[in-house]
Amino acid sequence: MERITAISYSSSANLGPGFDTLALCHDFGYDRVTVTVTGNGKSGVRIISNDTPTSPGLNSAGRAAQEFLRNFRISDSVSIEIEKGIPLSSGLGGSGSSSAATVTALDQLYGMNLTKDEKIMLSGYGESGSIEGRHYDNVAASILGGLVIVGSNGRIRSKRIEISPEFKFIIALPHVQIVPSKTEKMRSIIPNAITREKHIMNTSSFAFLLTGFQSGDGELIRLGMNDFIFEPERGRILGYYDAVRAAAIKSGAIGACISGAGPSLLFVCTQEYVEKVMIGIKEKFHSLGISCSVKEVKQGPGVRIEL
Ligand code: HSE
Repeated sequence: MERITAISYSSSANLGPGFDTLALCHDFGYDRVTVTVTGNGKSGVRIISNDTPTSPGLNSAGRAAQEFLRNFRISDSVSIEIEKGIPLSSGLGGSGSSSAATVTALDQLYGMNLTKDEKIMLSGYGESGSIEGRHYDNVAASILGGLVIVGSNGRIRSKRIEISPEFKFIIALPHVQIVPSKTEKMRSIIPNAITREKHIMNTSSFAFLLTGFQSGDGELIRLGMNDFIFEPERGRILGYYDAVRAAAIKSGAIGACISGAGPSLLFVCTQEYVEKVMIGIKEKFHSLGISCSVKEVKQGPGVRIEL
């Protein structure tokens, strides 16, 4: 029986102003996905998982696999065994990670030699059954590793950006109730039209943020990790974001953002402030009556085949 296992890491999308275009792969957790060819002559996908839906159409790995088989006209049946190391619906790119691992394993099984951008495109089908819901930031980060920009205007283009080593990252995962179809709902509140003023503010944020990460200039990150379009409403829905962000910054964080569609948050600081910022975050969540896990994370590697 032909079988391949791939390992793919968690990620935080958006980083403030980079909605659907910027994401950081990190080692908060990883998924291990094993794809096995179980039969020939009839296309089909079976999901084996204790934690995720087993109907392929409701599972990101299942949707990505269905698209892979359809796209390459492969009439085999495959089983996909998912070992989840990334908490579900946490805003940490769990669905994208499983899709990225699935497409990478299928690529290896069928010897397609897909480019990274082709893998991102196919993995993006895992994120949503609908074009409106499809976003490529998490899958791009899981495939390339590190900090990634992705563009999806007609075709996928992605680029990994090297981050100056002095920046450290912290994730806070609050233990709050997750509404069903959380990402879909958090996307449905996004404005379809924006003012010129907000567009200009977000564009300068994006440019400051990237330049800051590359050059090692924390002041640019402080300026850039600010979103004026998507976070205000999402932050209002989460309820705790503004208070925790302010507490982290008071404790020495350079920047903070909602990780993807939440509920997790991502913080940036330098080494000397890591402990203080983690304490500031925990204390603020505690004062709000919300328990949370707070963890320092490092940049994650791109998806890999387990040998
Ligand atoms: N960019 C997407 C969003 C990421 O914020 O809706 C979801 O994980």
